[in-house]
Amino acid sequence: MRLELPLRAERFGANLFYHSQKLFEIDGGYEFDSKFASPFHVIQQITRERLYEIERDMAIVIPIKNERLRLLEGVLCGIPHDCLPIIVSNSRQEPVDRFRMECNMIDSFCRYAKKKYISIHQRSPEMARIFENGGYHDILDDEGLVREGKAEGMLAGIVLANLLGKRYVGFIDSDNYFPGAVFEYARLFSAGLSQAKSPFSMARIQWHSKPKIVDSDLFFAKWGRVSRITNQYLNQFLSYYSGYETDALCTGNAGEHAMSMPLALLLDYSAGFSVEAYHFVSLLEKFGGVLPSPFPEATKSGIEVFQMESRNPHLHVVNKGDAHIREMIHHSLAVLFHSEICPVRLKKEILRELRRRKIVGKDDVLLAPRKYPALRGMDFDTASKMTDWALLGNFIPV
Ligand code: GDD
Repeated sequence: MRLELPLRAERFGANLFYHSQKLFEIDGGYEFDSKFASPFHVIQQITRERLYEIERDMAIVIPIKNERLRLLEGVLCGIPHDCLPIIVSNSRQEPVDRFRMECNMIDSFCRYAKKKYISIHQRSPEMARIFENGGYHDILDDEGLVREGKAEGMLAGIVLANLLGKRYVGFIDSDNYFPGAVFEYARLFSAGLSQAKSPFSMARIQWHSKPKIVDSDLFFAKWGRVSRITNQYLNQFLSYYSGYETDALCTGNAGEHAMSMPLALLLDYSAGFSVEAYHFVSLLEKFGGVLPSPFPEATKSGIEVFQMESRNPHLHVVNKGDAHIREMIHHSLAVLFHSEICPVRLKKEILRELRRRKIVGKDDVLLAPRKYPALRGMDFDTASKMTDWALLGNFIPV
């Protein structure tokens, strides 16, 4: 891959938030071009060996809830062979068992491709038992099962990836129409993480564009309806502390992102669709230097967040309704609003924004999404000893 160097960064305590990096070539060539060794280059070549090194150690979690099987098959097709796909489903099991249909498709696909995989239902007793055995009860509901929600499915995926010894974990939505885009995201994950000097790193995808039909023509929108708002307030957050206006953060709602496992285990998470915006809040709170850090060793090493601009247009299922978009805006801004380090001025602006959009009423308070503590507190040894992998959905041992 040939990629712009991460030249500019915004620092917030121990966090380094790199500005978006531009991709020049998805495939950077077989041989290493020694001209890139010059210190005057602003472009780097990441060798295929380095990309494969990371992909071999990476699981890619694919959350799915009632999506078309053809889309999921396309997503599987785009995952590089060496990455382990972990499909975490919350699809209907009645009256028609969509989960079973997914399992059948995944199983045939992976058998033909000779690809290892894991697929599990988020609400299965087996998944719940892993959390229970690990003493991580926050995610379990009154029935003792993993709660509903995308973030909850992602947490299940992180736990499975860690139990299998993966060093990196990435996330790609299951409703993507273009296998080529999926492939590019996975490659950008490995390229992004390959640049890290710290063991605590993250790579987040900034979509190049999102195609829409406007007046019977294609229009390639740069920003999603939710992300433009989340990014604005995240940047204001940084600006209020630094005293300098910034536009560094452009991946506030990046559903497509990857982390090194040490970082994935240190972050707190928030429920449902607030999860990606909350990554930043958790980083600012834990490693921003405003509050004492619960993890001094990570603070010492530093946290690196790479934002990578993809080249494929992002085309996914879009008919999920206006209420869904409004809910995502509400949730994303609510996690900022409720942070104990959110400046009062910013809280007022967030409230004004949500009221102006009639997302919250004049006298309403902002909901506070449920929080999940860092997974590092989970007892993985016990969970691992007590996990019967043969019972875990459809599973080809890795
Ligand atoms: N396991 C699981 N459990 N998966 C779920 C659940 C759930 O409860 N809910 C949704 N999913 C899956 C969907 O099937 C899809 O693959 C993915 O999670 C994203 O859900 P969508 O409902 O399609 O979200 P979106 O496209 O509106 O939003 C996406 O992009 C946003 C950025 O614009 C999500 O990735 C958001 O998290 C992201 O912020």
